[in-house]
Amino acid sequence: MKIGNHLKIKKKAIYFLAGIVALFVMTILGIQYYNDYKYQQTYEFKLIEKGYTKEEATILLEKIKEEKILELLNEEKKDYLISIVTEKYYLEKNFDQYLDFYEKNKKHGMYDIIAMVNVHANQEWYEKIEESDTTKGNLLLVNKYYQLKEDYVPDNLVSVSNWYCYGTNKITKEAYDAFLNMYQKAEEQNIKLIINSSYRDFKSQEATYNNLKNSFGQKKADSQAARPGHSEHETGLAFDIFSPGNTTTSNFKDSEAYQWLKEHANEYGFIERYPEGKEYLTGYNFESWHWRYVGTEIANKIKEEQITFDEYYAYYLE
Ligand code: DAL
Ligand code: ZN
Repeated sequence: MKIGNHLKIKKKAIYFLAGIVALFVMTILGIQYYNDYKYQQTYEFKLIEKGYTKEEATILLEKIKEEKILELLNEEKKDYLISIVTEKYYLEKNFDQYLDFYEKNKKHGMYDIIAMVNVHANQEWYEKIEESDTTKGNLLLVNKYYQLKEDYVPDNLVSVSNWYCYGTNKITKEAYDAFLNMYQKAEEQNIKLIINSSYRDFKSQEATYNNLKNSFGQKKADSQAARPGHSEHETGLAFDIFSPGNTTTSNFKDSEAYQWLKEHANEYGFIERYPEGKEYLTGYNFESWHWRYVGTEIANKIKEEQITFDEYYAYYLE
């Protein structure tokens, strides 16, 4: 072969290789460009453009529905969003209400905002009322939002022996059995528990409430007693407990019995229903004497999480 021909073939090979390399580079750049373009269409990119960090965008996309993300993209960045959606008891269905309530109540901490919305305490008590779900058994919720019908009568009510109570009392069989166990264990430690008031029907709750209202006015009555249809006493699952020497609502909190109940009642399925410091969620003043049966599993959980039954119900059951 002549030298000239040999050089020609070599040149062609170089051009060919250069062409391949150019095609390869262009393909890589094309893919890169396409991926960038695709990423720019994502909500993550758009949220980052709004000023959220990549991590915040990931959290928001996980916690908020697409339609709400679209709304967020049309608004200024909200610095408090992350603290709302990362609260333990955040519920996606309440997202709009949290925002609205927070905007009007910035003095509250985020835990309170979430809890108040969850338990419907973001509106005036008794402003909106729903019927209680009586299929929930021991987890039936009755409060200033959930109401029982006037003719509701709990199943399996039994009379409490006079040995354990003042006056005449009834509670459900399961709650009674649990109480008897608790009574016995308390007694072994020289703590005496006495039931003072338990099941009340609608009419008797009405009388209780009206007495207070007539004596002290509606505001005070509402802080201490439920309006008829709204009392846990109508469920047969709740009772007021006293102890000899501490037989008033003002001194029971100072009794050994109260301390014992705080420590052990959950082991028998009872919870403190209106705890100190949670008045803004329950709607009632602190009631050391009022205990409610929910069963041991739930009572343990409520105690462990330090939440009210209203919060438990809103987050786990509603
Ligand atoms: N004292 C409680 C809140 C009731 O009346 O049911
Ligand atoms: Zn009570």
